[in-house]
This record gives sequence, C-alpha cells and structure tokens, in this order.
Amino acid sequence: MSTLVVVGAQWGDEGKGKIVHFLAKKASYVARYQGGNNAGHTVVVGGKKYALHLIPSWILMRGVRNIIGSGVVVSPQAFQEEVLGLEKQGISSRGRLFLSLGAHVILPYHILLDGFREDSGRGIGTTKRGIGPCYEDKVARIGIRVCDYLEPDVFKGLVSQNLKIRSAELTKLKPLASIEKEVFKSYDQLRRFLQPYCADTSLLLSQALAKKENVLLESAQGAMLDLDFGTYPFVTSSSPIAGGAAIGSGIGPASIESVLGVTKAYTTRVGLGPFPSEMESKRADFLREKGHEYGTTTGRPRRIGSLDLVQLRHAIRVSGINALAITKLDTLSGTGPIEVCVAYKWKGKKLAHFPWSRQIQKEAKPVSLKLQGFDGDLSSARRFSELPKAAQDYVLWLEKTLQIPIPIVSVGPDLKQTIVRPIKTTTISQKKLFHFMGS
Ligand code: GDP
Ligand code: IMO
Ligand code: MG
Repeated sequence: MSTLVVVGAQWGDEGKGKIVHFLAKKASYVARYQGGNNAGHTVVVGGKKYALHLIPSWILMRGVRNIIGSGVVVSPQAFQEEVLGLEKQGISSRGRLFLSLGAHVILPYHILLDGFREDSGRGIGTTKRGIGPCYEDKVARIGIRVCDYLEPDVFKGLVSQNLKIRSAELTKLKPLASIEKEVFKSYDQLRRFLQPYCADTSLLLSQALAKKENVLLESAQGAMLDLDFGTYPFVTSSSPIAGGAAIGSGIGPASIESVLGVTKAYTTRVGLGPFPSEMESKRADFLREKGHEYGTTTGRPRRIGSLDLVQLRHAIRVSGINALAITKLDTLSGTGPIEVCVAYKWKGKKLAHFPWSRQIQKEAKPVSLKLQGFDGDLSSARRFSELPKAAQDYVLWLEKTLQIPIPIVSVGPDLKQTIVRPIKTTTISQKKLFHFMGS
C-alpha cells in the first residue's frame, strides 16, 4: 500500500496532470484536494489531448476511481460541462467519480465578484472563476456545501441570506433579483445532475486505506501560489502544498507516505506578482512559443523565467517533497546555455532563502549560473542514456545541488515521452514512491 501526494513545485502548470496520469498504473483512487476549475491539467494519451479542470487526471484511466475532495470548490455548471465534455470524448465518469458532500459550491455571484474585482484595478490576475470569493464565504462560515446544494429548502435559505450579506458589493454590479434569478436558472437540473456523484469521500478513502489500496492525491496550482507559503497576496485561496492534502481529502496526515514534486526545467507563472527569475522578453518569447506556454484554462501567455533554486528549495521544504519529476526538458533544447538562479541579491545582500517580505520578493534579482546547453530532439528519448550528455548533466547537477532524487524526466506531452530513472532509494518515503512507479 502507498499514499502519495503529487504537488506543483513552482507557480502551477508544471505538468502535474501528465505526471499524475503517468503514475496511474497502481492506484485505486486519485483525489483532488483543493482549488477548483481555476486549474487546467493537460494530458495527452496516444496523441489525443484532454484538458481537465476539476476532475482528477485519472478519469482517463479506466478502472481508477476519482474523488473531488471537500477542500475543492466546485461550480456545478463547470462540473456538468466537464463530465459531459469527457463523455463526448468517450470517457464516462458515472460510478467512478465521487464528489465530496463537504466541497463548497461556486455560484454565479462568486464569479461576478471575482471578475469585478479583477477589472476594477484591485486584481492579482486571477482566473475569474470565482475561486477567491467562494473560499471567502467558506472561511466566513456562510459558504454553501454540496450537501446544502442538494437540499432545495436549505439552499434557497442560504442563497437569500448570502445575497443580503453581500448586497453592498453586489448591488453595484447587478440588481439582486437578477443575480438570484441566475442562481436558480438551472438549479433543479444541475442538482439532479450532481446528485448521483455525491458521496462521503473521506469515508471512501479511509475504506480504501484500510484495505491497503494505493491512493494518490493530486494538487492543483503550486507551492508559490499557496495561500500561506506562496507569494502572498498574489496567490490562490487554498493550500496546494502537501499539508493541504490531508485537510482537503479527509485522511489523517500520518497516512501520507510520500510527496512527489513536479517542476519544469525552467519556470513559468500566469497572472501578476513577483517572479525573481523572470527572463528578458526576447528569450522569454522564444521559450513561450517553443513550449506552447499559454494557460490551459484562460489561454493567457505564461511569463517565463529560468529555473529558480531558491524558490524550488522553498517548495521542497514546505511540502516535504521526497523526490522531483522534471518536465519539459525537451523545450530547453536548442535555446543556448542554461541559466539557473542559485540565489537572490537584494540591496547588496545575497539571499539563500525565499523572503517573506513582499517588497523583497518584488525587488530581488537573480544570481545566475550558466550551464552548458544542449541541442537536438529529446522527445523520442525513452532512456536517460539516450539524452544528450549536457541534458543528462543538467539533471544530475540539479539532483546533486538540491540533494533530492529526480526519478522522472519528461521529454514531451505524451505519456510515452517519460523517462523513469532507476534510483537507489534511501528512505521509506522514497521506497513508497517507487512502489507507485512500478519499479
Ligand atoms: P499542470 O497544470 O501542472 O497539469 O500543467 P498544464 O497541463 O497546465 O501545463 C503543462 C503543459 O505542458 C501541458 O500542455 C502538457 O501537455 C505539456 N507537457 C507536460 N510535460 C511536458 C514535457 O515534458 N514536454 C513538453 N513539451 N510538454 C509537456
Ligand atoms: P494548475 O492546476 C497556474 C493563478 C492565477 C492567479 C492566481 C489566483 O493548472 O497548475 P485564482 O483564480 O486561483 O484566484 O487566481 O493563481 N492560478 C494558476 N496559475 N496554474 C494554475 O493551476 C492556476 N490556478 C490559479 O493565474 O495568478
Ligand atoms: Mg495548468
């Protein structure tokens, strides 16, 4: 048995969807534990592309059961669209997708508020999916959970209470009556659609753990977008770090046995906020086009930077990452010498650790090291030894410098384009992780 958390080790879009799906062989359950349809996880299987937002990537793997945990915020509309979209692609979710009764629902007024705040100059570059306002209601203890949504009288009462509470802000945007109308427009149909998927997912997971089945917990976003440990306030409103997995899925923290971090071979970020290793525009444009660095959810161009070891060490620490998967090594090919940020400098000082101060985060400049670049097409390599020597050296150097094993190297979007490196495991957590990888 093994319980593994897969987390993003940067600002999201590291390729978690692909890596989670790659690890599918041995699991009986995969659970998303936070975030909502702000996430966009692209998985390519046999040349066919799937974009997932709410549903865990393993829905594509027949026989695996999927959970949307209580830490996730769920738009019933988006849930229905995603399930139906997958059905059109031949993937059925019935009987193997379970939505937590404790997840909070995103309603049209959350989306309205998110968009309004973004457009009114107070924005941080959100995805405008209503994520922040929905989590605000949850923390304010006025949120509406899936179990409340399923009970029409309870739901109606809560909506009318919440519209009153939020009326000062909402009435600036639309009359309350029309907002309420929108909430109830498709309510009965959506409630009936959701009902068969709803379950006590914490109970399902605990039963699986009792039977010694393998469970994988999939994060959305990444460590630097974490509400507590990210570049606050330019963060999302949940906890993508591994600690969030226990809370958002309802299993005990001691059940989590290992944590795999996913990082790109360079760095990207969508939205506003500090980005110390951000590249100058010409090189960034080149990498963006080469790596198709446009958001899966919003289509926005991603900002591009060099790999940032200060940031990565921070992510490794706050999630207790035991090993890393590195993606998009193929994209770096042919881009010249590889720059890596190894420290920050700020006002003449050298910083080895990620700073808390928002001012320092904004003003810190990278201390960079240049490593030898590599050329050629990496995407057909299936063994580490088939990679150009300088590409191998880059991975080995990272492993040594960060003092963390890198057992997975990804060289293309397709599942086939994944290299597993046999690595000597030294800790129980690493052994558990390797058990998942089937080696
Ligand atoms: P996620 O949000 O962490 O799941 O990542 P996204 O799916 O938003 O973004 C990663 C993008 O890179 C997707 O389009 C993937 O198909 C693609 N991808 C993943 N791994 C690789 C890789 O090793 N090489 C290349 N070229 N693309 C990759
Ligand atoms: P995946 O799971 C990259 C960013 C937004 C914005 C900030 C807050 O695909 O890695 P929100 O809508 O959550 O309130 O926006 O977080 N963001 C992401 N960036 N990948 C994601 O998810 C993201 N989800 C949110 O761009 O800066
Ligand atoms: Mg993404």
